[in-house]
Amino acid sequence: MAYNLLKGKKGIIFGALDKKSIAWKVAEKAFDEGASFTLSNTPTALRFGELNELAANCNAEIIPADATSTKDLTLVFEQSQDILGGKIDFVLHSIGMSLNVRKKRIYSDLNYEFLNKTLDISAISFHKMLQIAFQMDAINEWGSIVALSYVAAQRTLYGYNDMADAKALLESIARSFGYIYGRDKKVRVNTISQSPTRTTAGSGVKGIDGLMDFTDRMSPLGNATAEDCANYCISLFSDLTRKVTMQNLYHDGGFSNMGMSLKAMQMYYKSFQGTEDSIEELE
Ligand SMILES: NC(=O)c1ccc[n+]([C@@H]2O[C@H](COP(=O)([O-])OP(=O)(O)OC[C@H]3O[C@@H](n4cnc5c(N)ncnc54)[C@H](O)[C@@H]3O)[C@@H](O)[C@H]2O)c1
Repeated sequence: MAYNLLKGKKGIIFGALDKKSIAWKVAEKAFDEGASFTLSNTPTALRFGELNELAANCNAEIIPADATSTKDLTLVFEQSQDILGGKIDFVLHSIGMSLNVRKKRIYSDLNYEFLNKTLDISAISFHKMLQIAFQMDAINEWGSIVALSYVAAQRTLYGYNDMADAKALLESIARSFGYIYGRDKKVRVNTISQSPTRTTAGSGVKGIDGLMDFTDRMSPLGNATAEDCANYCISLFSDLTRKVTMQNLYHDGGFSNMGMSLKAMQMYYKSFQGTEDSIEELE
């Protein structure tokens, strides 16, 4: 059901790759809620061709950009304002990539060139976007800028590798720039810390199936889906959350505040049955 929450608002959505992408769902919802926006992704991602379908369905233009390039990002903000006919009201940064993860370099054997790339693509690109938009004065007062994060910024989760460091930096940038952007231009900057989600980026995380099962059992409300995340993004782009800024907002069914749940304990206990190490013997 749509509520016209973004009626008349103009946006830029970075990071829709295919139908599974969180940014894809955000674009669909933003369109349903009355927004107009541009879509951006890397030239390589655009070559897959899937984004054309989303663009057609949402009446949106696509602007190619590598989010590590300030030149590309400047063009995105300039062209988006031309296409949409004025300043921007919301921006989604839905971008993440680690070459260490891709090339199976574990955290105790990182390639540092890859680490620099991870940080540049997944976190510093957010600073670049914010700085370009700020200096260009491209965002309307009470505009809202959101990036997607993960709880590995605060807690160590097996297999998340150098993306944990990128997410910690991403969240810190949201706080640091959020202060300046709020103070000087009344623009909100937040990160949403999303449940593990089966997308192209998500599937790259080591043991994603086990992780998703675990977090689902641990969370009183269960894992949040990509569609749930899109709904939360829309609420943050809307005028209903005008005083929310500089926050890392957990959107994970309650996972981040759990230690052990009954469902997870039952599963854990089951794994001991039929073996010599019963749970009593371990006590
Ligand atoms: N899937 C999960 O489990 C999960 C959980 C929490 C947070 N997130 C975050 O959500 C965001 C979106 O990921 P997703 O799960 O929808 O996966 P996805 O693979 O659909 O999206 C990642 C996007 O990043 C883009 N990208 C990579 N390098 C880029 C570059 N140099 N310039 C511009 N774009 C680039 C890709 O083309 C792709 O569109 C990421 O920041 C991810 O870390 C994902």
